[in-house]
Amino acid sequence: MTTQHVDVLLKNIAQLLPMQSDGPRAGKEMMQLDVIEDGAIAINEGKIVFIGKTEEAARFKAEQVIDCHGKLVTPGLVDPHTHIVFGGSREHELALKQQGLPYLEILKRGGGILSTVEATRQASEEELFAKGSFYLDRMLSYGTTTVEAKSGYGLDRETELKQLRVAKQLNENHPIDLVSTFLGAHAIPKSHKDDPDLFLEEMSAMLDEVKEENLAEFVDIFTETGVFTVEQSRDYLAKAKEKGFGLKIHADEIDPLGGTELACELVAVSADHLVGTSNKGIEMLADKRTVAILLPGTTFYLGKDTYARAREMIEAGAIVSLATDFNPGSSPTENLQLIMSIAALRLKMSPEEIWNAVTINAAHSIGRGESAGQLVVGRSADVVIWDAPNYLYIPYHYGVNHVNTVIKAGKIVSK
Ligand code: NIG
Ligand code: FE
Repeated sequence: MTTQHVDVLLKNIAQLLPMQSDGPRAGKEMMQLDVIEDGAIAINEGKIVFIGKTEEAARFKAEQVIDCHGKLVTPGLVDPHTHIVFGGSREHELALKQQGLPYLEILKRGGGILSTVEATRQASEEELFAKGSFYLDRMLSYGTTTVEAKSGYGLDRETELKQLRVAKQLNENHPIDLVSTFLGAHAIPKSHKDDPDLFLEEMSAMLDEVKEENLAEFVDIFTETGVFTVEQSRDYLAKAKEKGFGLKIHADEIDPLGGTELACELVAVSADHLVGTSNKGIEMLADKRTVAILLPGTTFYLGKDTYARAREMIEAGAIVSLATDFNPGSSPTENLQLIMSIAALRLKMSPEEIWNAVTINAAHSIGRGESAGQLVVGRSADVVIWDAPNYLYIPYHYGVNHVNTVIKAGKIVSK
């Protein structure tokens, strides 16, 4: 037996979830979960070089050996819907919520998203970078190694570009991989209150610049009562598609307008929220071309009783993913583990479905199916060691951080 020198060896892993799959998992396939008991992973130069049983790993001589006795090991989590670059915060809105003021009413009165727009316009790039870094550090400490990040708190050319540039710098400087989405169409700014079409024209006029500077891969829109209609969204996204962007929609979050159907019609990479999705929308998601990204933390935080119909979506055969929707208004949490618990309790998703949703399917919903969300020989070693004896444990023991160690591209980045 020839000895093979490697940087890191994880051995005696109680349960190892490689999450290997050729494509996203849809419908019943989401129950699939391969578990290696007494597993091992060898890592060299940032990449996985071996994955299997501890007894098969005897040939590896490692600089650093980590004994994972009694622990669960999984791929780094993928959070495919966040709004991480923003100024200020909105803790004062909690009291308004308690008084029963609806989310869209707060927005209508110039609060909500529009108050974060003010704060983001005033913030310098350095401030936004420092704030974003802080949130990303926290995400990493909770086991998330790849994150999608949206703009949408500028609603003018200058500030939207500022947000996107900050996201790019964060991607270059932070261990977490960031995938950027242009959400210029997030709300109607006060200046364009009476002319949303003109506003959408201005946002469309930025698309070439966003593309040339390589500032975003996806374009997203908030299709909602009092924000943008299905027709406006269709026209706007058609332009984005023509320019080569992948599409996403904040669809049917509060009112059932038909954003889900539109996302499927345009073959968007994802339709997000889907609390009010119609039967027809569920049928269309079953085509498996658009991933359903569910954000139950938002429903929880908005104090609603009705959640997205995850069970019906999965039973129809859809590809379901989960995200935090981290943002200062409707879901201020970086903790994807908490979302896994809410998904279990309120969406009635099984632990197996949940693990597929936060790894493989999440990666596919942001165009990273070939690089994130799985432990595969030759790929980046994005690995989480959990203080948990098995995969059932994470959604079960809720509200706390179960991470023992996070490894990103082969390096220990959080402990
Ligand atoms: O996904 N709905 C629109 N956008 C975010 C909330 C943004 C905010 O309230 O600041 C969402 O819920
Ligand atoms: Fe969102």
